[in-house]
Amino acid sequence: MQDLLTALVAKAAAEFTSLQSRPAFEAAKARYVGPNGEFTGLMKQMAGVPKEQRPVIGRLINETKGQIQTLLDTALARIEAAEMQAQLGPAIDPTLPSPDPGPGTHHPLTLVREEMCRILRKVGFTVADGPEVETEFYCFDALNTPADHPARDTQDTFYLPESARFGNVSKKDPGERYLLRTHTSSVQIRTMLKGPPPIRIVSPGRVYRRDTTDATHSANFHQLECLYVDKNVTVRDLKALLDYIFESLLGKATKTRFRPHYFSYTEPSFEVDLSAQHLPKVKKEWIEIGGCGMVDPTVFASVGYDPEVWTGYAFGMGLERLAMLLYGIDDIRYFYQNDLRFLKQFA
Ligand code: DAH
Repeated sequence: MQDLLTALVAKAAAEFTSLQSRPAFEAAKARYVGPNGEFTGLMKQMAGVPKEQRPVIGRLINETKGQIQTLLDTALARIEAAEMQAQLGPAIDPTLPSPDPGPGTHHPLTLVREEMCRILRKVGFTVADGPEVETEFYCFDALNTPADHPARDTQDTFYLPESARFGNVSKKDPGERYLLRTHTSSVQIRTMLKGPPPIRIVSPGRVYRRDTTDATHSANFHQLECLYVDKNVTVRDLKALLDYIFESLLGKATKTRFRPHYFSYTEPSFEVDLSAQHLPKVKKEWIEIGGCGMVDPTVFASVGYDPEVWTGYAFGMGLERLAMLLYGIDDIRYFYQNDLRFLKQFA
């Protein structure tokens, strides 16, 4: 019996090391320990072993069982590792340059942003930046938007938990909350608090609203903000600048018009409409493009500028809207889906 068992283990060891696949493994397993397996057959012979030999033979059988199980486990682990390796493919070195990276292309929003900044730089504006995580002070209070203003409603705004900490965005008042900025107008305040007028900045960037996504809305999108502070700035200057930038971006046939509106940080305030019927896909005579107005004296006071001395204008507009007009894109979602068929059209 002992010889039979030893021979069986040796045979199994030789056979199992050459197994390459799961079906082969299962078949081999059945040949040894299945209902009709060789080892199972030897175990059945226990019944015929004389009583006094049983403890010895029983121990041998148990040892053999353990050995066969170990051989099976080893074979299965090897097959599984090979399967995993096949799935992973050949080893790669992620530090090597891609064999053919090809030329990258600019995202359409980047193209419009850069073009707008270029147009504005030509008339003296510099680019200013601000954080996407803001405090209530910069996003609302300093912009004359008090705590009970509907724009601060949790319905349209993403607030961060009280426990959130951002080392690079300091709070004016320890009690105020952090939020994802709802507009780039917060950069107006950050810029004015940095130094005295005159100021002429353009600030493009990402903003967040609690909007449901559809063809014209997205919970995060991009805006472009401008602020000009100097002496004797008038609505005429504002209108002239808007005419200049839209003609530069969209062509000479572009017209702008103001509609009276309310923004808490400008007085008077307007919504800006564009007429750009020469553009493909623009079917309406006027389309709304942004908001603007003359900086409210309260805003100047909140940053320590003398409202009796300084005047200014500000405006903000959606970059997606501009890109959609310029390129004839009819769904805002294309910008964020990273579909190469869409992106390559702007190469
Ligand atoms: N912040 C406004 C918005 O997100 C846009 C805007 C309106 C910006 C008037 C301005 C402004 O600078 O003066 O809808």
